[in-house]
Amino acid sequence: MSESNLSRRKYLASVGGTAVALSVAGCSGGGGGSSQTITAGTAPGFPPFEMKEGGELVGFDIDLLEAVVNETDYEFEGWEEFEFDSLIPALTNNNIDVIAAGMTINDERDQTIDFSDPYYSSDQAIVVRADGDFSPGALGDLSDRPIGAQKGTTGEGVVQDELVGDVITENQYNAYDNYVLAIQDLENGNVDAVVIDVPVAETFAANRPVEVAFTYETGEQFGFGVRTDDDARQSALNDGLAAVRESGTYQELTGEWFGQ
Ligand code: ARG
Repeated sequence: MSESNLSRRKYLASVGGTAVALSVAGCSGGGGGSSQTITAGTAPGFPPFEMKEGGELVGFDIDLLEAVVNETDYEFEGWEEFEFDSLIPALTNNNIDVIAAGMTINDERDQTIDFSDPYYSSDQAIVVRADGDFSPGALGDLSDRPIGAQKGTTGEGVVQDELVGDVITENQYNAYDNYVLAIQDLENGNVDAVVIDVPVAETFAANRPVEVAFTYETGEQFGFGVRTDDDARQSALNDGLAAVRESGTYQELTGEWFGQ
């Protein structure tokens, strides 16, 4: 979001009221302005859910959320990009209205934000270099190895809860702003494994010299994040999700992005 948009939003939040919102929006020349809009936030570098291709933001979450919003009365305003661990603050600060970032629905996050109905399932994968020198088959095999994950993710949660202090030392956990950087460090030999969602692990494995050593069942479900008081957008997104499933669009998009 541009600075001017952001400050307009904050200004509107402070003065309140749609009538004022419309006239201010008119003055600044920006689109939207009514409360019936959705600005979405994501964290690219998580293929095939969201990634940059030739400078363009693309992926399953991008197509799915836009199709879902298209089924609602909300106008889609555009995408804002953040590091994954900045998405929830961006939502609660009103910088964005919806998070679409392969975000797992869990109790901890549920205390701060709400979620739409689930739209995808995942477990965690332990990814290693494809050269085969190190082929762990269970978490215990990661003993005393440097391990990477993205900050604020459930993959990091597995490292913290299941590995640190038990299988590896705290210093052996490398936290990255982005999973692309974690995978690069894996290729470079700076870490020996990365803990990451299975569909993303498989996408990296198909495109880079890394492979899935084994999976760790977490039974995660991804949902779109909304503010806790925003029942209107939450139910609009749920209705929109049901509609894209019904119309076959959901199936088309999983075919396109996951080949399934
Ligand atoms: N599903 C995991 C979680 O919720 C990882 C999500 C990372 N998403 C991203 N766009 N980088 O923590």
